[in-house]
Amino acid sequence: MESLNAITALQELDELRVKYTGKKGELTLLLRSLGKLPKELRKDAGQELNTLRDEIESKLEQTGRKIRDDENERQEKAQRIDVTLPAKGRTAGAFHPVMQTMHDIANIMQGLGYSVASGPEKEEEFYNFECLNMPSWHPARDMQDTFYFPDGTLLRTHTSPVQIRAMLQYGAPLRIVCPGKVYRRDNDPTHSPMFNQMEGLLVDKDVPFSVMKGTMTEMMNAFFGRSLKSRFRASYFPFTEPSMELDIECVECSGHDEHCRVCHGTGWLEVAGMGMVHPNVIRAGKIDPDKYNGFAFGIGLDRMAMLKYGISDLRLLFDGSVSYLLSGLGGEN
Ligand code: PHE
Repeated sequence: MESLNAITALQELDELRVKYTGKKGELTLLLRSLGKLPKELRKDAGQELNTLRDEIESKLEQTGRKIRDDENERQEKAQRIDVTLPAKGRTAGAFHPVMQTMHDIANIMQGLGYSVASGPEKEEEFYNFECLNMPSWHPARDMQDTFYFPDGTLLRTHTSPVQIRAMLQYGAPLRIVCPGKVYRRDNDPTHSPMFNQMEGLLVDKDVPFSVMKGTMTEMMNAFFGRSLKSRFRASYFPFTEPSMELDIECVECSGHDEHCRVCHGTGWLEVAGMGMVHPNVIRAGKIDPDKYNGFAFGIGLDRMAMLKYGISDLRLLFDGSVSYLLSGLGGEN
């Protein structure tokens, strides 16, 4: 009875059962040896041993039940669910900052009546260069170090070929933006061989220069969520004439920090190339340049994302670190 009171596990209980009431158990052996007792003692001894066996068996059973009950209770306690506790947080995915930027700018442009168009990343020289007023002898082809395939096709160096494809497909008037990947033979801390651009094209009758300037500043202000100073500099692209580049006020220091790591103290950030579409390009799109004109622009989406989200290293955008991607830079989406 002492050993029975001390045990806590079913296995120990089994061991005790075997020890006393098993085939070779102490009590069993005693019961078997009754025959060796003198006759007159046998009856009393037998009765006593039977009572003892009943006692032991019922105590074994009782202890077994108690152990099982205790175990059940313990498990129940361990597994009990408190339904009043707040739910565990779930790590939600987020858009990659570049994708978020792409969506944001596309949304802004859709608000101005533009549709989103797309074209292939593996492109023909014809669309990537020829149609964009860059014949094979044109020195501007050197501006864009190109990845060629053995068959003469190439990885598009900019999203501008989509201008041609869209004009051929939809005709005029036309307003499109085309976000997508572009490729150049560049690889250093500030250049990646693959990056993301967004092309814009508007073709209509009598499109004034001022509409381009207004569209670009509206887009930048809407994207950064505040009114930024902007300036347009004369530039050169073979497919636009005149051509310009847009600088916006440094989103980091607004020109107040001569050691600013973003604008390097210039106070300005180059964010887009643009211009009035060259008549040769309109013609290549099978639209009559005497009836229609327009403007086009190209912006670097990676750079825009870096500026908006304060990302200082371009490589962070492309190394696929999950913790970085889950950090929620992508905003509320
Ligand atoms: N395609 C040019 C580039 O990649 C950008 C651009 C697009 C300039 C449209 C003018 C008009 O550098």
